Amino acid sequence: MTNRSHRGTIYPEQAEILSHQACAGEQYILRVQAPNCAANALPGSFAHIQVAASQPLRRPISIMRTSTQEGWVEFLYKAVGAGTRLLALRKPGEALDMLGPIGTPFSFNRKRSLPLLIGGGVGMPPMIFAAQILRLDDQFKPFAILGSEVPFPFIPRPSRILTPEMPAGVIACMPLLDDWGVPSRLTSKRDFAGCYQGLVTDLARHWLNSLDREQLSQVEIFACGPHPMLAAVSTLAFEFDLPCQISLEEFMACGVGGCAGCVVPVLAGEAEQVMKRVCVDGPVFDARQIFF
Ligand SMILES: Cc1cc2nc3c(=O)[nH]c(=O)nc-3n(C[C@H](O)[C@H](O)[C@H](O)COP(=O)(O)OP(=O)(O)OC[C@H]3O[C@@H](n4cnc5c(N)ncnc54)[C@H](O)[C@@H]3O)c2cc1C
Ligand code: FES
Repeated sequence: MTNRSHRGTIYPEQAEILSHQACAGEQYILRVQAPNCAANALPGSFAHIQVAASQPLRRPISIMRTSTQEGWVEFLYKAVGAGTRLLALRKPGEALDMLGPIGTPFSFNRKRSLPLLIGGGVGMPPMIFAAQILRLDDQFKPFAILGSEVPFPFIPRPSRILTPEMPAGVIACMPLLDDWGVPSRLTSKRDFAGCYQGLVTDLARHWLNSLDREQLSQVEIFACGPHPMLAAVSTLAFEFDLPCQISLEEFMACGVGGCAGCVVPVLAGEAEQVMKRVCVDGPVFDARQIFF
């Protein structure tokens, strides 16, 4: 599967809101009719959304899944500040002004057939999108570990997919992924039924330790979540000598590469650091370029 950025496909779109579901923990699932975005989005892509006419500064939100056939795109976001709270007020039938899809997405290597997808909180969407795409290619056998410290924005259920390498009692999954045939397990420091009590990286370590040498050589890690989680995932990947791609969050203004408001230092060669724009050069980077 090839990696391509979206520099030729960032279009403005007046997307009709099809549904807007409030979930626990001030999380929202938003589905919009946006055929261009649906046709061009890849896991890791985001849309830059004008949350309300009164807010000219757009907010970046990752794409969680798409239907190219029906032309819709789905997002999961948490209301954390003024912008996302205004977005939460938007109703089905209204038009949402958005730009997208934007960003350099995750790239999947067919020689690494065991992708480990790790999503924390509202970092789950790109991992769900990755599962949607990877399940279509028999070469890949993805496994997802999703963590949340607020109730999950779906109703977990015992998985129908056996994963014997999981600790006893860790049976809760994301139903959508289970229905797609992609095994998933859930973690939280809170005592949620069937979930692993701890961090996503603890469960990931358990899974990696259960693999033999040959299986380990097939693993590549993909992660999205809060910065400390990405640092911990990267450390785990370095420890097991695994390739790892991470999706970063950064404050964004233009969102299309023009203002340099989102630059981060990235390792370019052995020791050389360069500044890269998270919006178009990222949001996905090799973990070794960021945590060096
Ligand atoms: C590539 C990318 C993908 C993202 N995907 C998701 C997602 O799928 N779900 C989700 O819930 N959140 C996601 N975020 C974070 C989301 O963009 C912020 O939570 C949101 O912009 C906060 O806006 P606010 O006005 O509600 O909050 P406030 O904190 O009040 O925002 C104040 C200002 O800071 C800026 N700002 C604050 N936090 C961020 C941030 N993390 N990134 C960029 N600008 C910020 C806002 O643009 C605004 O101008 C993503 C961020 C990036 C960069
Ligand atoms: S937000 Fe303007 S260059 Fe990235």
